[in-house]
Amino acid sequence: MPAISFQSVSKIYPSARNGPLKALDDVSFDIRQGEFFGLLGPNGAGKTTLISILAGLVRPSSGRVTVRGYDVQADYANARRQLGVVPQELVFDPFFNVRESLRIQSGYFGVKNNDAWIGELLESLGLADKADANMRQLSGGMKRRMLVAQALVHKPPVIVLDEPTAGVDVELRQTLWQFIARLNKAGHTVLLTTHYLEEAEALCGRVAMLKSGRVVALERTSELLKAASSNVLRFKIDSQLPREFEGKARVTGRIVQLPAHDAHEIERYLGAIREAGLRVEDVEVRKADLEDVFLDVMSRHGDKPPPARAAEAGRGPLPSSAADQVTGLEVGSS
Ligand SMILES: Nc1ncnc2c1ncn2[C@@H]1O[C@H](COP(=O)(O)OP(=O)(O)OP(=O)(O)O)[C@@H](O)[C@H]1O
Ligand SMILES: [Mg+2]
Repeated sequence: MPAISFQSVSKIYPSARNGPLKALDDVSFDIRQGEFFGLLGPNGAGKTTLISILAGLVRPSSGRVTVRGYDVQADYANARRQLGVVPQELVFDPFFNVRESLRIQSGYFGVKNNDAWIGELLESLGLADKADANMRQLSGGMKRRMLVAQALVHKPPVIVLDEPTAGVDVELRQTLWQFIARLNKAGHTVLLTTHYLEEAEALCGRVAMLKSGRVVALERTSELLKAASSNVLRFKIDSQLPREFEGKARVTGRIVQLPAHDAHEIERYLGAIREAGLRVEDVEVRKADLEDVFLDVMSRHGDKPPPARAAEAGRGPLPSSAADQVTGLEVGSS
Protein backbone atom coordinates (compact mmCIF):
# COMPACT_ATOMS: atom_id res chain seq x y z
CA MET A 1 0.00 0.00 0.00
CA PRO A 2 1.45 3.42 -0.93
CA ALA A 3 1.90 6.08 1.73
CA ILE A 4 0.20 8.61 -0.53
CA SER A 5 -1.72 8.02 -3.74
CA PHE A 6 -2.85 10.81 -6.05
CA GLN A 7 -5.26 9.49 -8.66
CA SER A 8 -6.23 11.79 -11.55
CA VAL A 9 -6.46 14.81 -9.29
CA SER A 10 -7.70 18.01 -10.89
CA LYS A 11 -8.59 21.31 -9.30
CA ILE A 12 -10.33 24.22 -10.91
CA TYR A 13 -10.64 27.40 -8.89
CA PRO A 14 -13.60 29.46 -9.95
CA SER A 15 -12.19 32.92 -10.37
CA ALA A 16 -14.55 35.78 -10.95
CA ARG A 17 -12.27 38.12 -12.84
CA ASN A 18 -10.20 35.98 -15.22
CA GLY A 19 -12.45 32.97 -15.59
CA PRO A 20 -11.82 29.60 -13.97
CA LEU A 21 -8.22 28.60 -13.22
CA LYS A 22 -7.01 25.03 -13.60
CA ALA A 23 -4.53 24.74 -10.74
CA LEU A 24 -4.13 20.95 -11.10
CA ASP A 25 -4.63 18.95 -14.24
CA ASP A 26 -4.96 15.19 -13.94
CA VAL A 27 -2.16 14.61 -11.44
CA SER A 28 -1.43 10.94 -10.73
CA PHE A 29 1.45 9.42 -8.80
CA ASP A 30 2.14 7.35 -5.71
CA ILE A 31 4.63 7.84 -2.91
CA ARG A 32 5.85 4.64 -1.28
CA GLN A 33 6.06 4.18 2.44
CA GLY A 34 9.44 5.30 3.73
CA GLU A 35 10.26 7.45 0.70
CA PHE A 36 11.78 10.93 0.98
CA PHE A 37 9.94 12.54 -1.91
CA GLY A 38 10.34 16.02 -3.40
CA LEU A 39 7.53 17.98 -5.04
CA LEU A 40 9.12 20.74 -7.10
CA GLY A 41 7.79 23.45 -9.34
CA PRO A 42 7.81 27.19 -9.93
CA ASN A 43 5.52 29.61 -8.06
CA GLY A 44 1.92 28.85 -8.87
CA ALA A 45 2.62 25.35 -10.21
CA GLY A 46 0.03 23.82 -7.87
CA LYS A 47 2.18 22.32 -5.10
CA THR A 48 0.32 23.88 -2.20
CA THR A 49 -3.02 23.10 -3.84
CA LEU A 50 -2.04 19.43 -4.08
CA ILE A 51 -0.90 19.39 -0.45
CA SER A 52 -4.07 21.16 0.67
CA ILE A 53 -6.15 18.50 -1.07
CA LEU A 54 -4.04 15.83 0.62
CA ALA A 55 -4.64 17.48 3.99
CA GLY A 56 -8.38 17.70 3.32
CA LEU A 57 -8.35 21.51 3.33
CA VAL A 58 -9.28 21.89 -0.32
CA ARG A 59 -11.70 19.74 -2.30
CA PRO A 60 -10.45 18.37 -5.61
CA SER A 61 -12.67 19.08 -8.62
CA SER A 62 -12.13 15.46 -9.60
CA GLY A 63 -9.90 12.55 -8.70
CA ARG A 64 -9.07 10.79 -5.48
CA VAL A 65 -6.32 10.94 -2.84
CA THR A 66 -5.52 8.31 -0.24
CA VAL A 67 -3.10 8.31 2.69
CA ARG A 68 -2.01 4.81 3.72
CA GLY A 69 -5.21 3.54 2.15
CA TYR A 70 -7.56 6.07 3.74
CA ASP A 71 -9.49 8.28 1.35
CA VAL A 72 -8.93 11.90 2.36
CA GLN A 73 -12.56 12.77 1.69
CA ALA A 74 -14.54 9.64 2.54
CA ASP A 75 -12.39 8.78 5.56
CA TYR A 76 -11.07 12.19 6.56
CA ALA A 77 -10.38 11.55 10.25
CA ASN A 78 -8.29 8.44 9.67
CA ALA A 79 -6.45 9.99 6.73
CA ARG A 80 -5.68 13.14 8.72
CA ARG A 81 -4.28 11.14 11.63
CA GLN A 82 -1.67 9.61 9.32
CA LEU A 83 -0.43 13.05 8.32
CA GLY A 84 1.70 15.77 9.82
CA VAL A 85 1.47 18.83 7.61
CA VAL A 86 3.76 21.83 7.88
CA PRO A 87 1.85 24.54 5.99
CA GLN A 88 3.47 27.19 3.84
CA GLU A 89 1.55 30.00 5.50
CA LEU A 90 2.28 31.04 9.08
CA VAL A 91 -0.94 30.86 11.08
CA PHE A 92 -1.11 30.73 14.87
CA ASP A 93 -3.24 31.10 17.86
CA PRO A 94 -1.55 34.05 19.54
CA PHE A 95 -2.96 33.38 23.00
CA PHE A 96 -0.83 30.44 24.04
CA ASN A 97 2.81 29.86 24.69
CA VAL A 98 4.89 27.38 22.73
CA ARG A 99 4.56 24.41 25.05
CA GLU A 100 0.84 24.98 25.64
CA SER A 101 0.20 25.13 21.92
CA LEU A 102 1.90 21.80 21.42
CA ARG A 103 -0.08 20.23 24.26
CA ILE A 104 -3.32 21.52 22.75
CA GLN A 105 -2.30 20.20 19.35
CA SER A 106 -1.61 16.79 20.93
CA GLY A 107 -5.10 16.91 22.36
CA TYR A 108 -6.61 17.42 18.91
CA PHE A 109 -5.12 14.11 17.91
CA GLY A 110 -6.11 12.38 21.14
CA VAL A 111 -2.49 11.94 22.26
CA LYS A 112 -2.14 12.04 26.04
CA ASN A 113 0.98 12.40 28.24
CA ASN A 114 2.99 13.73 25.35
CA ASP A 115 5.44 15.89 27.31
CA ALA A 116 8.50 13.73 26.67
CA TRP A 117 8.02 13.91 22.88
CA ILE A 118 7.16 17.62 23.06
CA GLY A 119 10.41 18.16 24.96
CA GLU A 120 12.34 16.27 22.30
CA LEU A 121 10.71 18.27 19.52
CA LEU A 122 11.52 21.57 21.22
CA GLU A 123 15.10 20.45 21.77
CA SER A 124 15.60 19.14 18.23
CA LEU A 125 14.12 22.25 16.65
CA GLY A 126 16.07 24.69 18.79
CA LEU A 127 12.96 25.99 20.58
CA ALA A 128 13.68 24.75 24.10
CA ASP A 129 14.54 28.21 25.43
CA LYS A 130 11.31 29.59 23.96
CA ALA A 131 9.03 26.95 25.47
CA ASP A 132 7.34 29.45 27.73
CA ALA A 133 7.32 32.34 25.28
CA ASN A 134 4.05 33.52 23.83
CA MET A 135 3.60 32.75 20.14
CA ARG A 136 3.59 36.50 19.43
CA GLN A 137 7.11 36.78 20.83
CA LEU A 138 8.65 34.41 18.29
CA SER A 139 10.63 35.59 15.29
CA GLY A 140 9.57 34.54 11.78
CA GLY A 141 12.04 31.67 11.61
CA MET A 142 11.06 30.49 15.09
CA LYS A 143 7.39 30.49 14.09
CA ARG A 144 8.27 28.28 11.16
CA ARG A 145 10.08 25.86 13.49
CA MET A 146 6.98 25.89 15.64
CA LEU A 147 4.89 24.87 12.63
CA VAL A 148 7.19 21.88 12.21
CA ALA A 149 6.82 20.96 15.88
CA GLN A 150 3.03 21.22 15.65
CA ALA A 151 2.93 18.98 12.59
CA LEU A 152 4.98 16.29 14.30
CA VAL A 153 3.32 16.32 17.69
CA HIS A 154 1.36 13.10 17.07
CA LYS A 155 4.32 11.29 15.45
CA PRO A 156 2.56 10.94 12.10
CA PRO A 157 3.80 8.20 9.76
CA VAL A 158 3.56 10.60 6.79
CA ILE A 159 5.22 14.01 7.10
CA VAL A 160 4.37 16.74 4.59
CA LEU A 161 6.50 19.87 4.51
CA ASP A 162 5.45 22.81 2.32
CA GLU A 163 8.54 25.00 2.05
CA PRO A 164 9.60 24.44 5.64
CA THR A 165 12.89 26.27 5.25
CA ALA A 166 11.63 29.52 3.73
CA GLY A 167 13.05 32.24 5.97
CA VAL A 168 14.92 29.82 8.20
CA ASP A 169 18.59 30.48 8.92
CA VAL A 170 21.35 28.21 7.64
CA GLU A 171 22.10 26.60 10.96
CA LEU A 172 18.52 25.66 11.67
CA ARG A 173 18.02 24.39 8.13
CA GLN A 174 20.73 21.86 8.85
CA THR A 175 19.33 20.94 12.25
CA LEU A 176 15.88 20.59 10.76
CA TRP A 177 17.09 18.35 7.95
CA GLN A 178 19.04 16.15 10.33
CA PHE A 179 15.93 15.73 12.41
CA ILE A 180 13.66 15.00 9.44
CA ALA A 181 16.23 12.61 7.96
CA ARG A 182 16.32 10.76 11.28
CA LEU A 183 12.53 10.40 11.25
CA ASN A 184 12.72 9.20 7.64
CA LYS A 185 15.33 6.58 8.62
CA ALA A 186 12.99 5.45 11.37
CA GLY A 187 10.37 4.75 8.68
CA HIS A 188 8.38 7.97 8.34
CA THR A 189 7.47 8.94 4.78
CA VAL A 190 8.40 12.51 3.87
CA LEU A 191 6.88 14.70 1.16
CA LEU A 192 8.74 17.96 0.75
CA THR A 193 8.26 21.04 -1.39
CA THR A 194 11.11 23.51 -1.60
CA HIS A 195 12.62 26.08 -3.91
CA TYR A 196 16.07 25.22 -2.53
CA LEU A 197 16.93 22.60 -5.11
CA GLU A 198 20.20 21.84 -3.38
CA GLU A 199 18.20 20.61 -0.41
CA ALA A 200 15.95 18.53 -2.60
CA GLU A 201 18.95 17.01 -4.36
CA ALA A 202 20.59 16.10 -1.08
CA LEU A 203 17.50 14.71 0.59
CA CYS A 204 14.95 13.38 -1.87
CA GLY A 205 15.29 9.92 -3.33
CA ARG A 206 12.65 10.75 -5.92
CA VAL A 207 11.11 13.96 -7.20
CA ALA A 208 8.06 15.06 -9.13
CA MET A 209 8.14 18.34 -11.03
CA LEU A 210 4.90 20.23 -11.51
CA LYS A 211 4.33 22.93 -14.06
CA SER A 212 1.02 24.73 -14.54
CA GLY A 213 -0.72 21.99 -12.61
CA ARG A 214 0.76 19.11 -14.60
CA VAL A 215 3.39 16.54 -13.71
CA VAL A 216 6.22 17.14 -16.18
CA ALA A 217 8.83 14.87 -14.57
CA LEU A 218 8.68 12.02 -12.10
CA GLU A 219 11.86 10.12 -11.50
CA ARG A 220 14.54 9.07 -9.06
CA THR A 221 16.80 12.04 -8.32
CA SER A 222 19.90 10.07 -9.28
CA GLU A 223 18.35 9.16 -12.66
CA LEU A 224 17.39 12.77 -13.35
CA LEU A 225 20.95 13.84 -12.69
CA LYS A 226 22.35 11.04 -14.82
CA ALA A 227 20.08 11.92 -17.74
CA ALA A 228 21.07 15.59 -17.63
CA SER A 229 23.91 17.10 -19.60
CA SER A 230 26.74 15.82 -17.50
CA ASN A 231 28.70 19.06 -17.12
CA VAL A 232 28.23 22.77 -16.96
CA LEU A 233 30.93 25.12 -18.22
CA ARG A 234 30.92 28.30 -16.17
CA PHE A 235 32.86 31.50 -16.75
CA LYS A 236 32.76 35.27 -16.49
CA ILE A 237 32.68 37.58 -19.49
CA ASP A 238 33.14 41.30 -19.94
CA SER A 239 31.09 41.81 -23.11
CA GLN A 240 28.25 40.40 -25.20
CA LEU A 241 28.13 36.64 -25.78
CA PRO A 242 28.31 35.55 -29.46
CA ARG A 243 25.00 34.79 -31.16
CA GLU A 244 25.58 31.09 -31.45
CA PHE A 245 25.20 30.80 -27.70
CA GLU A 246 21.76 32.38 -27.70
CA GLY A 247 19.28 29.96 -26.21
CA LYS A 248 22.04 27.69 -24.95
CA ALA A 249 23.67 29.73 -22.25
CA ARG A 250 22.26 30.87 -18.96
CA VAL A 251 23.52 34.35 -18.20
CA THR A 252 23.32 36.02 -14.79
CA GLY A 253 25.08 39.37 -14.85
CA ARG A 254 28.59 38.56 -16.04
CA ILE A 255 28.35 34.85 -15.28
CA VAL A 256 27.67 32.46 -18.14
CA GLN A 257 26.71 28.82 -17.68
CA LEU A 258 26.67 26.40 -20.59
CA PRO A 259 25.54 22.78 -20.32
CA ALA A 260 28.03 20.48 -22.04
CA HIS A 261 27.91 16.75 -22.58
CA ASP A 262 31.60 16.01 -22.81
CA ALA A 263 35.14 17.39 -23.00
CA HIS A 264 34.83 17.76 -26.76
CA GLU A 265 31.88 20.08 -26.44
CA ILE A 266 33.63 22.11 -23.73
CA GLU A 267 36.61 22.58 -26.04
CA ARG A 268 34.35 23.60 -28.88
CA TYR A 269 32.65 26.26 -26.74
CA LEU A 270 35.95 27.63 -25.49
CA GLY A 271 37.27 27.74 -29.04
CA ALA A 272 34.24 29.67 -30.26
CA ILE A 273 34.61 32.15 -27.44
CA ARG A 274 38.29 32.64 -28.21
CA GLU A 275 37.51 33.20 -31.89
CA ALA A 276 34.94 35.81 -31.00
CA GLY A 277 37.71 37.63 -29.15
CA LEU A 278 35.94 37.56 -25.79
CA ARG A 279 37.89 37.89 -22.59
CA VAL A 280 36.83 35.18 -20.17
CA GLU A 281 37.74 34.78 -16.52
CA ASP A 282 37.27 32.21 -13.78
CA VAL A 283 36.59 29.29 -16.07
CA GLU A 284 35.36 26.19 -14.30
CA VAL A 285 33.57 22.98 -15.15
CA ARG A 286 31.09 21.57 -12.68
CA LYS A 287 28.69 18.65 -12.61
CA ALA A 288 25.09 19.38 -13.60
CA ASP A 289 22.88 19.66 -10.52
CA LEU A 290 19.17 19.39 -9.85
CA GLU A 291 18.70 23.09 -10.52
CA ASP A 292 20.10 22.61 -14.03
CA VAL A 293 17.74 19.70 -14.57
CA PHE A 294 14.82 21.68 -13.17
CA LEU A 295 15.42 24.69 -15.44
CA ASP A 296 15.85 22.37 -18.36
CA VAL A 297 12.60 20.49 -17.75
CA MET A 298 10.68 23.71 -17.13
CA SER A 299 11.97 25.37 -20.27
CA ARG A 300 11.05 22.36 -22.37
CA HIS A 301 7.53 22.44 -21.05
CA GLY A 302 7.52 26.16 -21.31
CA ASP A 303 5.02 28.67 -22.23
CA LYS A 304 6.44 30.97 -19.59
CA PRO A 305 10.15 31.41 -18.80
CA PRO A 306 11.39 29.40 -15.83
CA PRO A 307 12.11 31.19 -12.56
CA ALA A 308 15.35 31.96 -10.77
CA ARG A 309 18.58 31.79 -12.71
CA ALA A 310 17.22 31.64 -16.24
CA ALA A 311 14.63 34.29 -15.62
CA GLU A 312 17.22 36.68 -14.25
CA ALA A 313 19.24 36.15 -17.35
CA GLY A 314 16.28 36.79 -19.60
CA ARG A 315 17.47 34.12 -22.00
CA GLY A 316 15.77 31.31 -23.79
CA PRO A 317 15.72 27.61 -23.01
CA LEU A 318 18.75 25.41 -22.52
CA PRO A 319 19.57 22.59 -24.87
CA SER A 320 19.29 19.20 -23.38
CA SER A 321 18.73 15.57 -23.50
CA ALA A 322 17.27 15.28 -20.03
CA ALA A 323 13.66 16.26 -20.37
CA ASP A 324 12.70 13.86 -23.11
CA GLN A 325 13.99 11.02 -21.05
CA VAL A 326 12.47 12.01 -17.77
CA THR A 327 9.01 13.04 -18.81
CA GLY A 328 6.30 10.81 -17.53
CA LEU A 329 8.49 8.02 -16.20
CA GLU A 330 7.37 5.93 -13.29
CA VAL A 331 3.92 7.43 -13.14
CA GLY A 332 1.80 5.51 -10.73
CA SER A 333 4.53 3.27 -9.31
CA SER A 334 3.70 1.84 -5.94
N1 LIG B 1 -7.95 29.79 -3.09
C1 LIG B 1 -7.62 30.03 -4.35
N2 LIG B 1 -8.46 30.60 -5.21
C2 LIG B 1 -8.14 30.85 -6.49
N3 LIG B 1 -6.94 30.52 -7.03
C3 LIG B 1 -6.04 29.94 -6.23
C4 LIG B 1 -6.32 29.66 -4.85
N4 LIG B 1 -5.22 29.07 -4.30
C5 LIG B 1 -4.33 28.99 -5.29
N5 LIG B 1 -4.79 29.50 -6.44
C6 LIG B 1 -4.10 29.54 -7.73
O1 LIG B 1 -3.75 28.21 -8.09
C7 LIG B 1 -2.45 28.16 -8.68
C8 LIG B 1 -1.56 27.24 -7.89
O2 LIG B 1 -1.28 27.81 -6.63
P1 LIG B 1 -0.45 27.04 -5.52
O3 LIG B 1 -0.50 27.85 -4.26
O4 LIG B 1 -0.90 25.64 -5.45
O5 LIG B 1 1.03 27.10 -6.15
P2 LIG B 1 2.42 26.62 -5.52
O6 LIG B 1 3.01 25.64 -6.48
O7 LIG B 1 2.25 26.20 -4.12
O8 LIG B 1 3.27 27.98 -5.61
P3 LIG B 1 4.40 28.58 -4.59
O9 LIG B 1 5.70 27.99 -5.01
O10 LIG B 1 4.34 30.05 -4.91
O11 LIG B 1 4.00 28.28 -3.20
C9 LIG B 1 -1.96 29.61 -8.73
O12 LIG B 1 -2.25 30.11 -10.00
C10 LIG B 1 -2.81 30.31 -7.68
O13 LIG B 1 -2.98 31.66 -7.98
MG1 LIG C 1 2.97 26.89 -2.36
